[in-house]
Amino acid sequence: MTLALAIETSCDDTAAAVVDDQLHVHASVIESSIDQHRAFGGVVPELAGRAHLVTIGPVVRRALEEAGLDPHNPAIDVVAVTSGPGLIGSLLIGLSAAKAYALAWDKPFVGVNHLEGHLFAPLLEQPNLEWPLVTLLVSGGHSMIVLQHGPGRHEVLGETIDDAAGEAYDKVARWLGLPYPGGPEIDRLAATGDASAVKLPVSMIGSGFDFSFSGLKTAVVRATEKQPDTTVADVAASFQAAVAEQLLRKLRQVLDERDVRGIALAGGVAANSALRRGVQALAEERGVPSYLPSLKMCTDNAAMIAAAGLHRFALDGPSALDLSARPNWPLAALS
Ligand code: KG4
Ligand code: ZN
Repeated sequence: MTLALAIETSCDDTAAAVVDDQLHVHASVIESSIDQHRAFGGVVPELAGRAHLVTIGPVVRRALEEAGLDPHNPAIDVVAVTSGPGLIGSLLIGLSAAKAYALAWDKPFVGVNHLEGHLFAPLLEQPNLEWPLVTLLVSGGHSMIVLQHGPGRHEVLGETIDDAAGEAYDKVARWLGLPYPGGPEIDRLAATGDASAVKLPVSMIGSGFDFSFSGLKTAVVRATEKQPDTTVADVAASFQAAVAEQLLRKLRQVLDERDVRGIALAGGVAANSALRRGVQALAEERGVPSYLPSLKMCTDNAAMIAAAGLHRFALDGPSALDLSARPNWPLAALS
């Protein structure tokens, strides 16, 4: 058995996990600095970096203790760490910590792509996925549609040409005067609103698999200026329906054009109730399974980094100790 300690610090969450190569999670600890960012309406990179520096040691220690390991000399085989993409200051804290642990314990370490980590999240809860699998990876920083031919074998079919889906949620929420992060707030309000109250466009960028959200955000601003009496719940429901519709149309198109045996969701927006309902309905209609990770597996965590790290370690071996952080590291560079 190979046992990994993984560290994730690409954005505002400081996370550590212990996972074995059967993808059994022995411990997964997450400490968020979101409360410090809320007043600013978004993640402030310098605050996030400072918070990681304070939190990383205690979070790693807790993960090792929860896994029943000696924190001074743990019986792990490899240290996995997110080395990109993400906020440079945040990545550097996690990467430096991982190198220090690896040196102190005389263990190998492996740098992991954060997006590949998200793609491994469904595997941690559903070990018997069917391939090829189409995965909608939608978060605050990324939105892409990926055809996975097997673990770590991905083909990026399309991505957003402007805002990420979560970013659009956060911007519209801000416009509506809702707190950050806006996704969960809009989702909650949408449950009581009328999705047909505001007519919004469903952007379709050409015949490929790319999508776009900035026009939708502008349309929400225009509509609320024109119809100031519309309730926030009705705007939230209409916006949520338009986002889900765009993503589901692209998924439908992939199912029409490619050989696909399953549909998965990953990333923070995978927690969205309209999207989850829509994917489940689409999967039933097409007779393929849907894999919807639990909410804690959708958002940033270190267990998914451990899973991707174990895969990369087995495939490519350890990373060199002079590995640098890559704030812009496209998933396509791995395939
Ligand atoms: O994956 P994640 O935790 O962080 C990264 O961006 O990597 O995703 C956070 C994003 C935020 O934009 C947040 O507003 C969005 O996911 N989000 C949601 C929901 N829960 C979180 N968006 C829509 N509906 C939700 N229920
Ligand atoms: Zn993420």
